[in-house]
Amino acid sequence: MKLVETVAALKSEIDAAKASGRTVVFVPTMGALHEGHLSLLEEANLVQDAFVVMSIFVNPTQFGKGEDFARYPRTLASDTEALSTLPNPPAVLFVPAVEEVYAAGTDAPLKPRAGALGSVFEGAARPGHFEGMLHIVSWFFEVIKPEVAVFGAKDAQQLFLIKRMILREFNDSIEIIEANTVREDDYLARSSRNRFLTELGRSFAPVIFATLIQVQERITEGELPSVVIAEASSPLDCPPLAKLDYLALVDKSNFSPISDGFSGEAQLLVAVVVDGVRLIDNITFYIQEPA
Ligand code: PAF
Repeated sequence: MKLVETVAALKSEIDAAKASGRTVVFVPTMGALHEGHLSLLEEANLVQDAFVVMSIFVNPTQFGKGEDFARYPRTLASDTEALSTLPNPPAVLFVPAVEEVYAAGTDAPLKPRAGALGSVFEGAARPGHFEGMLHIVSWFFEVIKPEVAVFGAKDAQQLFLIKRMILREFNDSIEIIEANTVREDDYLARSSRNRFLTELGRSFAPVIFATLIQVQERITEGELPSVVIAEASSPLDCPPLAKLDYLALVDKSNFSPISDGFSGEAQLLVAVVVDGVRLIDNITFYIQEPA
């Protein structure tokens, strides 16, 4: 594994790999690596002749004012150590400085825009988050020019926006591998932020996934989604420990909220702030036409 900090050094590694017929597979991360990230890497390594480029970059523009940019865990030494002891580490670990990425400063305009989807669900709670996220992902795509990129299914709205960006801005030229969410033994989705949960918060957190499964079961048994969602919301909303932000069903094909009577592939999204830690999760399931 080669640690690379500049675009120039990265490009020369990638040019050499492409010249020898390798397929460039990109795995973006913000570090503080856990099992979830390692599963992205495993997916990347399954691509034939993969030349895997992993990035670690805590992107300032996707954190809003008052968000946890300053306290976001930065664990480069242990991340590098963990990666280098793997049987299949990435070929390149790209760790650019903020100045390398944002030569014009972090206040310069961001593109592409997230549009209306940038201000609902995660975007409503985190204004500007998706503009910053799309900006950095498109910057990486321009620099790395990957054939394939791997993203986790846990960040459903991020994944939807990235797929749309690839269609709109990259001529559908990058294949996305969607990696399943990795969970703890009690099914809490792995996240770099879980380390900030208090003992009480951690003991509450598994209720989130349990609720998703319960909602799925009731809806697939034929109950009305609106009724099920309303009833399932209250156990997730118990301040001061936990504050439910949203529990919502969207049409997976366009990320629009669905109403009773919808049939097709649905995504059930949830965000709960537990002890000040924002936890998100989702599941996908099929809703049959009413009998
Ligand atoms: O999902 C993340 O970790 C980040 O949003 C990403 C895709 C690495 C962009 O900074």
